[in-house]
Amino acid sequence: MTRTIGVISGKGGVGKTTVVANLGAALAHRFKKDVTIVDCNLTASHLGLSLGMHYHPVTLNHVLRREKHIDESIYDHPSGMKIIPASLHLKDLIKTDISKLGHHLKKLKGKTEIIFLDSSPGLGKEAVATIKASEELIFVTRPDIMSVSDVIRGKEFVGKIKKEPIGIVLNMVTRGGHELTQKEVEIMTDLPVIAVVPHDKNVPKSLAKKIPVILHKPRTPASKELRKLAGFIIGEEELGFWDRIVRFLKT
Ligand SMILES: Nc1ncnc2c1ncn2[C@@H]1O[C@H](COP(=O)(O)OP(=O)(O)O)[C@@H](O)[C@H]1O
Ligand SMILES: [Mg+2]
Repeated sequence: MTRTIGVISGKGGVGKTTVVANLGAALAHRFKKDVTIVDCNLTASHLGLSLGMHYHPVTLNHVLRREKHIDESIYDHPSGMKIIPASLHLKDLIKTDISKLGHHLKKLKGKTEIIFLDSSPGLGKEAVATIKASEELIFVTRPDIMSVSDVIRGKEFVGKIKKEPIGIVLNMVTRGGHELTQKEVEIMTDLPVIAVVPHDKNVPKSLAKKIPVILHKPRTPASKELRKLAGFIIGEEELGFWDRIVRFLKT
């Protein structure tokens, strides 16, 4: 069975691309799952770029224009995850119909275990197509009133079209007194907070290296929380060091 999980937000710059790249890498590398991540943010396509994967002859844009089959747009990342990038070229936005996203993604059913969709922010055409193509949704927000109020609106839309919200990732948390607390966010949104990822300078540092932080700095606080979130999503706990040694010796 293939799960399709959209990662969405109201505001931009809250960490969706970071969460998608790291959940994909953690589930592939640490949990040995077959994961495919897809850049559905056609107008600000950062997912491939954030992983150092710049040039792709076939992208999601070609698939949406029906020039290529979706299978031809899949690339391997060293972590073991697969990525479907979007084009970085302005010309590739012409005649590219994002509303057909769900139709094309259905062709991946049974071929991969989990698909993460990296959305554009808000509730514009691209984000709506991403939400409609998803079965489950993860909201990413910073702990401030503006981002959280956007989650409330997003949740209403997700509910209207009968999709399943998994919960909220609170990102870039500093625990400063000005921030909303986890409890306040849960009360305001009536959704569970499934991860509290700290503001961690190793996240942008890893981005500069084009390596997901969970691989580049596995022990930094953001990496620990992102790996825990990966385990939560599949209902498994991460194997400890000795468990991994035993498993390695058995294989
Ligand atoms: N937990 C974090 N701590 C510090 N910086 C972060 C964290 N999460 C994301 N960032 C940084 O914030 C910026 C925006 O993140 P990004 O994932 O691109 O957001 P979005 O996809 O929602 O626009 C990037 O520079 C990223 O490195
Ligand atoms: Mg993004």
